[in-house]
Amino acid sequence: MGGKVTVVGSGFYGSTTALRLAQYDIFDTVVLTDIVEGKPEGLALDMNQSRSIEGFETKVIGATTTPEGAGYEATANSDVVVITAGLPRKPGMSRMDLIGVNAGIVRGVAENIAKHSPNAVIIVVSNPLDEMTALAQIATNFPKNRVMGQAGMLDTARFTNFVAEKLGVKTASVKTLTLGSHGDTMVPVPSRCTVDGKPLSDLLSQAEIDELVDRTRNGGAEVVALLKTGSAYYAPSAAAARMAKAVIEDSGAVMPVCAWVDGEYGISGVYLGVEAEIGRNGINKVVESKLTDSEVEALKAAAEAVRAKQADVQTL
Ligand code: LAC
Repeated sequence: MGGKVTVVGSGFYGSTTALRLAQYDIFDTVVLTDIVEGKPEGLALDMNQSRSIEGFETKVIGATTTPEGAGYEATANSDVVVITAGLPRKPGMSRMDLIGVNAGIVRGVAENIAKHSPNAVIIVVSNPLDEMTALAQIATNFPKNRVMGQAGMLDTARFTNFVAEKLGVKTASVKTLTLGSHGDTMVPVPSRCTVDGKPLSDLLSQAEIDELVDRTRNGGAEVVALLKTGSAYYAPSAAAARMAKAVIEDSGAVMPVCAWVDGEYGISGVYLGVEAEIGRNGINKVVESKLTDSEVEALKAAAEAVRAKQADVQTL
C-alpha cells in the first residue's frame, strides 16, 4: 500500500479516525491537523509511540493550521482527506442548528485543502452532514464524485446493532440499510434488512421494527444526551475510516454514503444518502437498489428537504 490521508480536526472524531487509519497500516502517512496549537502534534507523537505495540508502521504527522491556511503544507498531495472540522452538537440541539457556524469552518478548510491537495478524494463528516458535503464540493470545486459524506455507514451500523441486541444474535448475522439524510429525513429501509438471510419482518412485529427505526434515526442524539459534552465518535470514526480505506484500496466496495445523485430513484442534483461503489476516484457510481414504493417516496422527501438546505449553503 502507500499514500497519504489527512484528517482535519483533532477532536475525538478526528483523532479516533486518524488512529484507526494508522492502525490499518495501509497508508504511508496519516496527517492530523487542528487549529489548537500543539494538539495535533501531541496526539501524533502519542499515536506514533503506540506503533511498536500495535504493530503498524504508518507515520502520523501532526500539524497546527490557521484558518488563513498556515500549516496546510503538511497536508500537501493527500490522496484522501477526511474533514471533521466544526462544532459537535450539545444536548437538545439538532444537527441543523450547527449549519451557520460550521459552514464557515468547513468552507475555509475545504478551500485550503483544495489548494494543497488538488487530486484528493474528500470525505466530509462535519454536521449537518448532507449540507456540509454539498458545501465542501462548492468550496473545492472538485468533481462531484470526489466529494462524499459519511453518514449511511454509521446509521446502518447503529440500526444493525439495535437489531442484533433486540434479537440476541451476532451483528455479523444482521444486514440493514439506511438511506436519505443524516437527520430527520433519514430513511431506514426495513425491506432490505435481514437476519441470517431472513427478512426482518418475519422476526419482529411492525411496532418493534418501528421502534428500532426510530432509535436509529435518533441514534446520534441519544449519545449526545448521555455524553452531555460532544457527540459520538467510536462508531462514526469506524465508518469514516472504512470509507477512506475503500478509496485508497480502490476496493469497489458498495456502502451507504452521502453522494451526488443524478437521476437515480428519479432524484437529481442533490447530495443524498444512497448506496455507492467506492474507489480511487471517490464515487465510481451510485448503486440503485430495489425499494418499496413507500421507501422511494421517503427518499424523495429526504431529497427535497436537503435540496432546500443545500441551496442555502451556497451563500453561507
Ligand atoms: C452522529 C453525529 C456524529 O450521528 O452526526 O453521532
